[in-house]
Amino acid sequence: MSAMVETAGTFGEAATRVFSGVQPTGHLTLGNYLGAVRQWVAREQHRADALFCVVDLHALTVDHDPARVRRLSRQAATLLLAAGLDPARCTVFVQSHVGEHTRLAYLMECTAGVGEMRRMVQYKEKAAREEAAGVRLSLLTYPALMAADILAYGTDEVPVGEDQAQHVELTRDLAERFNRRYGPVFVVPRATLPQVAARVMDLQDPRSKMGKSSAARNGGAGVIHLLDEADVVRRKVMRAVTDAGTDVVYDREARPGVANLLDVLAACQGDADPAGLAAAYGSYGTLKRDVADAVEEVLRPVRERHAELAADPGYVDGVLRAGAERARGLARPRVDAAYEAVGLLPVGA
Ligand code: TYM
Repeated sequence: MSAMVETAGTFGEAATRVFSGVQPTGHLTLGNYLGAVRQWVAREQHRADALFCVVDLHALTVDHDPARVRRLSRQAATLLLAAGLDPARCTVFVQSHVGEHTRLAYLMECTAGVGEMRRMVQYKEKAAREEAAGVRLSLLTYPALMAADILAYGTDEVPVGEDQAQHVELTRDLAERFNRRYGPVFVVPRATLPQVAARVMDLQDPRSKMGKSSAARNGGAGVIHLLDEADVVRRKVMRAVTDAGTDVVYDREARPGVANLLDVLAACQGDADPAGLAAAYGSYGTLKRDVADAVEEVLRPVRERHAELAADPGYVDGVLRAGAERARGLARPRVDAAYEAVGLLPVGA
């Protein structure tokens, strides 16, 4: 049977397949944790066949220091395990260890149009920032690689923060277009967002996303990193920009600073209702104190486990090696099928 007439179901998966990733472009932030990683740990690895990837190739789309990318890749993988991803329950690996991603990315570039790539919000933002260093072509084509990351695994669901939803939408479009043109090779995935804290904002600039690279703004005072010590977390939260007025109400438009603190608190308390929490506070000061405590409660165990795991790099390497091997085995048949479907001559038997 030719690969073209194989359906997604013939690749042998039964459980829901989940895939997500994190870029080692900077130290992981509270936004990464509350928007994505905490769902992977608490939910996805228990209910689905889940793969989580340190997407190191994506870190090369902007000006980068090789030694730093290498260090941050290891740190990101270690942090995912420290946060509670269990290699007995899910697959944790590094993107560049599995050649299928770049193999498929080329077919995605042959499926996507330049116009739709240029329309990506993240491209526009990052391209503006990178202008001085020179915008890399890979920054434009990056969503094709991200689509390949997802589609290679027959992924059903992609648990991400709100800022990645547009890329997952594009991935859906590319999967549908490819299947229409060449036959049903890909599962069409969908993004799943957390109930609260899908978009954690910068504490110093609550109209901008808290991001790894926004660390440059205000010396990084608005960004909490997963490895920040308790006193640093407290200082950053206590100095968070709040809004005019003193009463605590949940209004993301009019009071973005306070709403952000309530979102963070709600997420740290396991998806409580942020608007409901507001009623318990009479002042910004007490709210900030509770937020600082709640964030520290969440981060302390991660920091402590990270220190243990970082002392045992052999263990982390072993997890990543086994993860890459499993990922390769899962991705290869579908990527081979995609190559055959577009008309490339299969390697002779
Ligand atoms: P990245 O590395 O920027 O972020 C990793 C995850 O964290 C989420 N996130 C946030 N959520 C809430 N508030 C924030 N301030 C915040 N900042 C980040 C992101 O939405 C993401 O879920 N392109 C992706 C990485 C990637 C990927 C993939 C993800 C590459 N291939 C395939 C899913 C599937 C990125 O840059 O994420």
